[in-house]
Amino acid sequence: MALPDSFIQKLLDNNRIEDVVSGYVAMKRRGRNLVGLCPFHGEKTASFNLYPETNSFYCFGCGAGGDVVTFIKRIENLDYMDAVRFLADRAGMQMPENRRENDRDTRLRLRILEANREAARLYHQALYAPEGQMALEYYHSRGYTDATIKHFGLGFAPPGFDYLRNALRAKGFKDEELIAAFLLARGRSGGTYDVFRNRAMIPIIDIRGNVVGFGGRVLDDSKPKYINTESTLAFSKSRNLFALNFAKNTGRELNLCEGYMDVIAMHQAGFTNTVAALGTSFPEEQMQLIARYADRINLIFDADGAGQKATRRAIDNLRRTGLDVRVVTIPDGKDPDEFIRNKGADAFRLLLERSSNAIEYRLLEIGRTYDINTPDGKVKYMKEATALLARLESPVERDVYAGRLSQLLSVSKDAILQEIRYGERRQQRAGMKRRLPELMRQEQKELRQVNPEAVHYPRAAKAEESLLGTLLMHPDYIRTVRKELPCDNLVTAFNRELYERLLEREQQGLLVELAFLSADYDQDGMAYISRMVRDAQERTVSLEEAQRYASIIREEHKLKALKDPSNASDEDIQGILNTLRERKQ
Ligand code: CTP
Ligand code: MN
Repeated sequence: MALPDSFIQKLLDNNRIEDVVSGYVAMKRRGRNLVGLCPFHGEKTASFNLYPETNSFYCFGCGAGGDVVTFIKRIENLDYMDAVRFLADRAGMQMPENRRENDRDTRLRLRILEANREAARLYHQALYAPEGQMALEYYHSRGYTDATIKHFGLGFAPPGFDYLRNALRAKGFKDEELIAAFLLARGRSGGTYDVFRNRAMIPIIDIRGNVVGFGGRVLDDSKPKYINTESTLAFSKSRNLFALNFAKNTGRELNLCEGYMDVIAMHQAGFTNTVAALGTSFPEEQMQLIARYADRINLIFDADGAGQKATRRAIDNLRRTGLDVRVVTIPDGKDPDEFIRNKGADAFRLLLERSSNAIEYRLLEIGRTYDINTPDGKVKYMKEATALLARLESPVERDVYAGRLSQLLSVSKDAILQEIRYGERRQQRAGMKRRLPELMRQEQKELRQVNPEAVHYPRAAKAEESLLGTLLMHPDYIRTVRKELPCDNLVTAFNRELYERLLEREQQGLLVELAFLSADYDQDGMAYISRMVRDAQERTVSLEEAQRYASIIREEHKLKALKDPSNASDEDIQGILNTLRERKQ
């Protein structure tokens, strides 16, 4: 299953780590490297580093690290082969060969997509057939025009348990395929039946134009209100957004609504840059997806309790993406769909223009909990508001809001800025205190797991790590170092094996680079190795230094033998005694 080096090399050339990563994380250049907010743990100050020179990344906050394949493995949650496939797709490259089991999945995935497309067509037809009359009236009563219905491919799943099953069987689909597509379910007696019955059907279309799933809404008040496609080989809720297929090319600003119906109404009213999350949570992956297509996002949620909660959750997850987040509050507890129906598109446009950004929204919220006309309320409000502003990184933004607070509370702006700085220091201290033991534990745990011997031979392990990191940075040193340091001299097994691999690759004239290791090491292994590279990179190590590491390792190797003299030769023991004598002087 090993992939040819030439293929991996081409894959890396076509997927430069800066390009790939900046599809997920907003990166800023800092010297030779790039920094950004780590996508693998929540953080407010950037500790995620990209090293274009070694094609690697490393996060000082959580210790995640590796090459571009490791990055994709983690962020897309894929195994090694699928991550390679993902990058090959991204670069428009053919995989060298397909494995059989993947062939099966690929075929089934295609069948699911075909079945979904047929189903969407049938549902749309049914809407305009006599049995669809009620559903068509329902759409019309919501104000949707026939053009909108056609544009979104809306449809109707007739009542009865076998409408779709019979129609799709007639087109050659097998029940098993339709079950895999979430279109049929299997009953207790073993028979199959339609999942969607007597529902308004909304196809979910991905950015490539595939029908990947459906949302089905009841036409009345019965429950459940929606049935949605659950995950299938062709569909994952957290990696899709409703209507992104239309919205993705509208510019760098998107509106995010709660529901399908809102999005459809918004598009009809001309706001074609609108998408919806699928379901009621706002997973971080979805927010990352938004960040790929937008710089600015307007959250348009119901003003009811659930909507407010959703807003806050979405804001939290969105903040990590570095997007400019604004919140549009719709008056009178209406949702956008209703608001547009009642007040029209122009009124909605005004709301959009007046949208406040996320900080303003939170300030307003805090404002509602305190009565700033009492001295006590004023102090509490100021405490909480300044704590919020302390999280802002931009001094300009801070200044703007401090100014606004100063007016609102009639307190001098300087006093407010002062308070913000106090708040910031408090938060930093609290944050460090909280994170430090965790970080140390993590680092040690990682070490223990990946290279358990490092704890027992710290000096040796340190020198090995420095040497290996250096060799990955400067493979040209390998020729010299290999003569001075035999493989079995490395004290810890993990490092010994890595050293052997590097020597072997060099011997065979293959490229020695971090990325070629990700097929052989897991996530933690890669994190450990990339930390070595990162350390070496920050010091620019000379060949002489590499040789010095080699000599420390040789020394430690001898000392290890002394601890366990049964394996030591007389020569070894003599050598050890010499070393110890030298050290004493
Ligand atoms: N939703 C869901 N399952 C439910 C309720 C809601 O999956 N039982 C999801 C749907 O994606 C829905 C969104 O949450 O579009 C918002 O819910 P809601 O506002 O209740 O639905 P709307 O689509 O706005 O429907 P309507 O305006 O007709 O109430
Ligand atoms: Mn609604």
